[in-house]
Amino acid sequence: MDNWRKIWSRTRQLPNTDPDLQFLIDADGFNSGAGKINEEAWSTYVRHAASLMKIQPDDSLFEIGCGSGAFLYPFYKDGHRVSGVDYSPSLIGIASLVMPEMDFSVQEAAHVDSTRRFDIVLANSVFQYFPSIEYAEEVLRLMWEKTNRMLVLLDLNDIQFADEALRIRKGSLSLGEYEKKYAGLEHLFYERNFAEKALKGKRFTINISNQQINNYGNNKFRYNVVIEKW
Ligand SMILES: C[S@@+](CC[C@H](N)C(=O)[O-])C[C@H]1O[C@@H](n2cnc3c(N)ncnc32)[C@H](O)[C@@H]1O
Repeated sequence: MDNWRKIWSRTRQLPNTDPDLQFLIDADGFNSGAGKINEEAWSTYVRHAASLMKIQPDDSLFEIGCGSGAFLYPFYKDGHRVSGVDYSPSLIGIASLVMPEMDFSVQEAAHVDSTRRFDIVLANSVFQYFPSIEYAEEVLRLMWEKTNRMLVLLDLNDIQFADEALRIRKGSLSLGEYEKKYAGLEHLFYERNFAEKALKGKRFTINISNQQINNYGNNKFRYNVVIEKW
């Protein structure tokens, strides 16, 4: 089992009351350091993403690496059909708990069934954990087949800032301490034209924008890609 999978699969202590949106945000890892996001900033971000995706009231959404469903939850609350996969059984358990009528399953991103289609197929803050660019290209091809209209990659690590992001992550740790703490926990970074190159030969319009989440320390290193099929 790779190290990221172990971390994401840790059991989460459930609250005594129904989990709220902030619980989902925290469970999905946006609860510490530069990656910390509060509920208000998250809701503003989701609304911004919805406008980038040109969401329609009847749209169905499918998320690769959906975690506990923090990103999908506001769409579910608005009456959309949502669904997703994630390799973490504990996070999928939470998503199924908070959105009981929806379909969530434990699955590796590269094994997604691309025949069941959705209007919007997305991944938010997931591609940095993939083992290689080739793996990411394969997931992107599956997402392309699976979507009726929109393929959306949010919060992608920008390779232009890889050194700076690494410096910040390393902080004051010595090289030895850093290697020990983060062994097998590398992040993958992507060129801005990664999606365009991987989908070469297909017909689409692409919109790439800088990440902008209030008080999110990773804004500078991340970007968003919205691909509309022709
Ligand atoms: C930062 S969390 C984001 C969760 C969710 N997308 C959100 O926005 O709240 C990253 C998620 O990606 C999932 N993940 C990473 N690599 C994966 C893979 N190869 N297959 C399936 N899920 C993966 C993790 O389990 C984790 O839930």
